Amino acid sequence: MGVRGDFTGLDVSTPNVARMYDYYLGGLASFAVDRAAAERVLVHLPHQRRSAEENRRFLGRAVQFLAGPQCGIDQFLDIGSGLPTTRSVHEMARAVNPAARVGYVDYDPLVVSHGKAMLAEPGCSVMVEADLRDPVGLLSHPDIRGHLDFSRPVGMLLVNVLHWVADSASPRRVLSVLRDAAAPGSYLVLTHGSMDLVANKDAARRAAQVYDHANARLRPRSRLQVARLFDGWRLLEPGLVPKHQWRPDPGSGPMPFDYSWAGVAVKDLFRR
Ligand SMILES: C[S@@+](CC[C@H](N)C(=O)[O-])C[C@H]1O[C@@H](n2cnc3c(N)ncnc32)[C@H](O)[C@@H]1O
Repeated sequence: MGVRGDFTGLDVSTPNVARMYDYYLGGLASFAVDRAAAERVLVHLPHQRRSAEENRRFLGRAVQFLAGPQCGIDQFLDIGSGLPTTRSVHEMARAVNPAARVGYVDYDPLVVSHGKAMLAEPGCSVMVEADLRDPVGLLSHPDIRGHLDFSRPVGMLLVNVLHWVADSASPRRVLSVLRDAAAPGSYLVLTHGSMDLVANKDAARRAAQVYDHANARLRPRSRLQVARLFDGWRLLEPGLVPKHQWRPDPGSGPMPFDYSWAGVAVKDLFRR
C-alpha cells in the first residue's frame, strides 16, 4: 500500500512518528528520513518491529473484546489512529459486530489524507483531523458528533498515542475531559511506552533520543504514571500489564521483552 492523497507542503525532511511506525510494521508509507530514523531506533531496540506488531495485536484483542457480547460496544473513537498499515479498527470491530462504527482521529495531515482515502466508509467510519491535546475541540468536531452518539457507550482507543503528549499538555487533564464526555458503560483502551519494561535503560534512552529530532518527542512514563491516567475508570482483569500479557490469544508464545503498558477499563454507572 503506497501513500495516497494530496501531499502539498508535506515535510519530508523531519522524521515522522506515524511514518516510522508504518515502517516498523512493514508498510510503504515512509520516506527516506523516516526509515533512517527508524533504523537508528532499531540499533538500540532491536525488538521494536515485534513490539509494534504486538501493539496491533493487543489493539485487535481489545477491540474484539469490546465489540463482543460481553461489552456490546458498537461505536469507537480511535485517537492517534495512525496510517492504515495493518487491519483497521473498523474491520476488526465489524468482524464481531457488522454494525460497528468508528471515528478515526489524528493530528497529522498525511495520516488524515491517507485515512480519508483508505479508511472512511459511509455509514461505517470517518477520518477527522484533530489534536488530542485539545480534547474539547476534538469531541466537538462536527464529523465526530455526526458519526458517534456520546449519549451511548463508546470505546475510546488511545493506543500508542499518549507517550507523544508532553507533561505540559497534561495527559491527565486530556483524559479527564474524554472520561467526562463518555457515557457510563464506555471503555478506555490504552497502551503507553515505558522505560520500566526495558532491561537496558541506556539503549532505551538512546532510542528515545532519536525522537527528539522527529515531529513528536517520546515521553515514556512509569507504570504508576500510566495507572493515574485511568482515574475515574475501573481497570478490567488482568489490570495494567505488558501489552502482550493482556488476555493473550491461546497458543501465543512467550515474549522475552515489552516496551509498553496496556490496560482496558470501563466507566461504571455510578461515576457519571
Ligand atoms: C505510533 S502511531 C499509533 C497508531 C495506532 N494508534 C496504533 O497503535 O497502531 C501514533 C499516532 O498518534 C498520532 N498523534 C500523536 N500525537 C497526537 C495528538 N496530539 N493528537 C492526535 N494524534 C496524535 C500520530 O500522528 C500517529 O499517527
